[in-house]
Amino acid sequence: MDKSKITAPSLLEMKTRGEKISVLTAYDYAWGRLIDESGIDVALVGDSLGMVVLGYETTLMVTMEDMIRHCAAVARGAKRALVVADMPFMSYQVNSDDALRNAGRLMQESGAGAVKLEGGGQVADVVGKIVDAGIPVMGHVGLTPQSVHQFGGFKMQGKDAQNADRIRIEADALQQAGAFAVVLEAIPAQLAKEITQTLTIPTIGIGAGPDCDGFVTVTHDMLGMYDKFVPSFVKQYANLWQSTLEAFKAYDADVKQLRYPERKSTGQQ
Ligand code: KIV
Repeated sequence: MDKSKITAPSLLEMKTRGEKISVLTAYDYAWGRLIDESGIDVALVGDSLGMVVLGYETTLMVTMEDMIRHCAAVARGAKRALVVADMPFMSYQVNSDDALRNAGRLMQESGAGAVKLEGGGQVADVVGKIVDAGIPVMGHVGLTPQSVHQFGGFKMQGKDAQNADRIRIEADALQQAGAFAVVLEAIPAQLAKEITQTLTIPTIGIGAGPDCDGFVTVTHDMLGMYDKFVPSFVKQYANLWQSTLEAFKAYDADVKQLRYPERKSTGQQ
């Protein structure tokens, strides 16, 4: 394997060296290539795909087939970055045999380098079984969007002592089960800092303050391409919705006012 290729063990080495890990979500070939060329470490094919690309209200409708198709496209573009495939809702909760089969499909059929799944102690057995099969697993605790109905919305987690303890225990259980990293989503910064200091595996924060080992952002949020809801912690690096809208309007006007295509550019003058 190429030395510069990012792998699950390289993320552990980055934590040991104190180097921050950059993660962005990706859903297609162009995004995979852009992530590779920009030097981002991890392309996460998140099931946020369901919301920002497929237009669903939550991530629950995303299927294995959706994930395989989009992850394969990302993997065709991202040759250097580690490609992590989210396991969709109900692909790992029913039983560990199903979970292993589905994790295997994501690796075999989409070319991912690791899988990610949500939950703590209740998925520890599943994580262990997948890891034993040689598949690197990234965990995900805190606000786990597949449990949005149980939380009563996309709400911050771990605000009271009992909940904070539950999240600490979950993160620890994932490390014990063999996960190589864990996403901490929408939890207080102090809690994320404590978990990051306690775990030997890297923590990847999103809405969890500045003290995690790495950070993940939904690409559509940081590029201003999803206007339904932008979390307050997101820094917008571009407003592609607005510039795309302006380009589309200019094209519409050009076509209707006979400015496009230009006669000379068609060679038919
Ligand atoms: O689906 C996703 O994009 C995610 C990230 C927000 C961590 O799980």
